Amino acid sequence: MVPCEMVARLGQLAGALALLATRVAANYVIDGHDLPDDFVFGCGTSAYQIEGATGTQAKDGKGVSIWDTFAHGKGLGHIALDADGDVAVDFYHTYPKDLPLFKEAFGMNQYDFTISWTRILPNGTGHTANEHGVDFYRNVVKTAHDNGMTAACTIYHWDLPQALQDKYGGWVDKRVVADFKNYADVLMGSLGDLCDDWISMNEPRTFCTEGYGPDPVSAPALANATYETQYKCYHNALLAHSEAHDVFKKKKKEGKVKGRFGIKIDGQPGVPMDPRSEADRLALDQHHAFEFWEVPPLVNGSYGEIFANYLGDALPKFTAEESKKLAGSYDFVAFDAYTSIWVGALDSQDEHDCKRNQMSNFYPSCVNASNYNNDGYLIGVPTESNWNFRANDTIFTGLKYMHEHGIKAYTVGENGMGRRNESQLYLAERIVDPERVDWYRSTFKNMKWALEAKLPLIGFTPWSCLDNLEWSEGYGIKFGLIDSPSGYNQTRTPKMSAAYIKAVMSGQQHSQYPYFPMSGV
Ligand SMILES: *[C@@H]1O[C@H](CO)[C@@H](O)[C@H](O)[C@H]1NC(C)=O
Ligand SMILES: *[C@@H]1O[C@H](CO)[C@@H](O)[C@H](O)[C@H]1NC(C)=O
Ligand SMILES: *[C@@H]1O[C@H](CO)[C@@H](O)[C@H](O)[C@H]1NC(C)=O
Ligand SMILES: *[C@@H]1O[C@H](CO)[C@@H](O)[C@H](O)[C@H]1NC(C)=O
Ligand SMILES: *[C@@H]1O[C@H](CO)[C@@H](O)[C@H](O)[C@H]1NC(C)=O
Ligand SMILES: *[C@@H]1O[C@H](CO)[C@@H](O)[C@H](O)[C@H]1NC(C)=O
Ligand SMILES: *[C@@H]1O[C@H](CO)[C@@H](O)[C@H](O)[C@H]1NC(C)=O
Repeated sequence: MVPCEMVARLGQLAGALALLATRVAANYVIDGHDLPDDFVFGCGTSAYQIEGATGTQAKDGKGVSIWDTFAHGKGLGHIALDADGDVAVDFYHTYPKDLPLFKEAFGMNQYDFTISWTRILPNGTGHTANEHGVDFYRNVVKTAHDNGMTAACTIYHWDLPQALQDKYGGWVDKRVVADFKNYADVLMGSLGDLCDDWISMNEPRTFCTEGYGPDPVSAPALANATYETQYKCYHNALLAHSEAHDVFKKKKKEGKVKGRFGIKIDGQPGVPMDPRSEADRLALDQHHAFEFWEVPPLVNGSYGEIFANYLGDALPKFTAEESKKLAGSYDFVAFDAYTSIWVGALDSQDEHDCKRNQMSNFYPSCVNASNYNNDGYLIGVPTESNWNFRANDTIFTGLKYMHEHGIKAYTVGENGMGRRNESQLYLAERIVDPERVDWYRSTFKNMKWALEAKLPLIGFTPWSCLDNLEWSEGYGIKFGLIDSPSGYNQTRTPKMSAAYIKAVMSGQQHSQYPYFPMSGV
């Protein structure tokens, strides 16, 4: 071998070693795309859906939340089959075993969970945290740390203290903003040294629409709710988020909290019914203005023009000081992605009527949004829920929309599916879930598009770590990556989809290749 050839070979070898070194340094990879070292990969859960030790089983001074009341109420709306979250999947007692299992099943580096306001402040107010509640969450975070995971602590996931609902109507009254700020302050004072990232709240769009809108199916199922109460809820939720961010910012300066601060928002990206139709494209802008209504306030501190013009006086206004605090009040936005929807323009008479009549079927966005298009095609592969379709580019379209509208960093927040009739299957069949593997195959395809487009994607937290109480649908719809029947001391069994996600994220499996589980079948 002539010397210059040898030098060239050595050069190649050095290059290959350098490449190897970067591969080793990167924690996660998707089909050869190295993800940044600080990329967050977790799985999500929420307090009322998993903890138990509430309602009739309340423990250690926990107060009553609107979900306790809703689950036990047999009036307007309650959980399917009269289920409740009193025991749920018993996470309150099982977390010491669950967290190591999550780590093993997914190979994740963050646990993404939520805190129940009424474990910390049983009646929603006051400056002294209930020490049993604090101990529980401190132990959860420490257990995550002991198992090689950071923890993202979500301040609020739908379980408002009943005391605040009784006192002033909950999210429809502006007093909730100061109470939320106080709660955030007490919580960060109790967990600030431990939590690695913070999230203010989960999906204000959904908890306001379902709980405080004209067709309430979720707690507190306000009896006389209207669009006005729904938008008051939207408004107060954003203000509460902004105040919590303000508390975070001040405490971070003092070195009392760490990490990043975000919010989880959900929305259904639209696909134009007829991409060649100018009217349908305009309808799409209108649709997105309503689906992603939080984006302009988070970026600019004010509501978007289309949204504000349609709602007029129904929409409360921000003061100058509120706007200033709200603009840029996040480090990242988590996008909870569950489906896309076809969108077309209404005919001019229908649109005209809609803008003037809240009773219109199309109010408030005044577009035709449908799971079926003009040719009768569904928006994606159906799942157990009519709001959950595996559509081609839900995640990519949502992230691109946020990017184009000024959101500077985001994660794929919640993302998952309820497999048809899974709850009716025997264990051996429940854990073989090829439909869910296909769902996440599509998720990875979308994440690759985002990476190739150089969008600032900083995390991925599939929903959910384990089967849980699916809110008003009870235990009949399962979104878990780990099988877990409700009740005390139930066995947890990771599903095939969990193993697939782990194999892809660790670089052992190309996401688009067929996947066959190696064990457990
Ligand atoms: C919460 O309110 C209830 C009912 O008013 C009261 O009995 C209880 O002592 C209060 N709990 C706390 C911790 O303040
Ligand atoms: C809803 O009804 C309750 C009880 O009648 C009343 O106190 C409350 O003011 C009403 N709220 C709205 C927004 O109309
Ligand atoms: C923010 O405000 C600027 C200036 O008015 C505007 O151009 C931009 O579209 C706004 N962005 C959003 C997301 O509303
Ligand atoms: C909405 O679109 C669907 C699918 O094309 C169509 O069947 C329906 O008639 C449309 N509704 C209105 C009011 O335009
Ligand atoms: C799927 O989504 C991608 C990204 O938006 C798009 O380029 C492609 O055309 C879509 N495919 C179909 C069949 O709609
Ligand atoms: C799910 O089960 C119901 C009965 O409980 C049945 O009507 C339906 O066809 C089943 N769906 C599928 C996709 O098997
Ligand atoms: C669950 O298991 C633990 C530990 O074995 C036991 O102490 C506890 O009594 C069990 N709980 C129930 C409700 O069976």
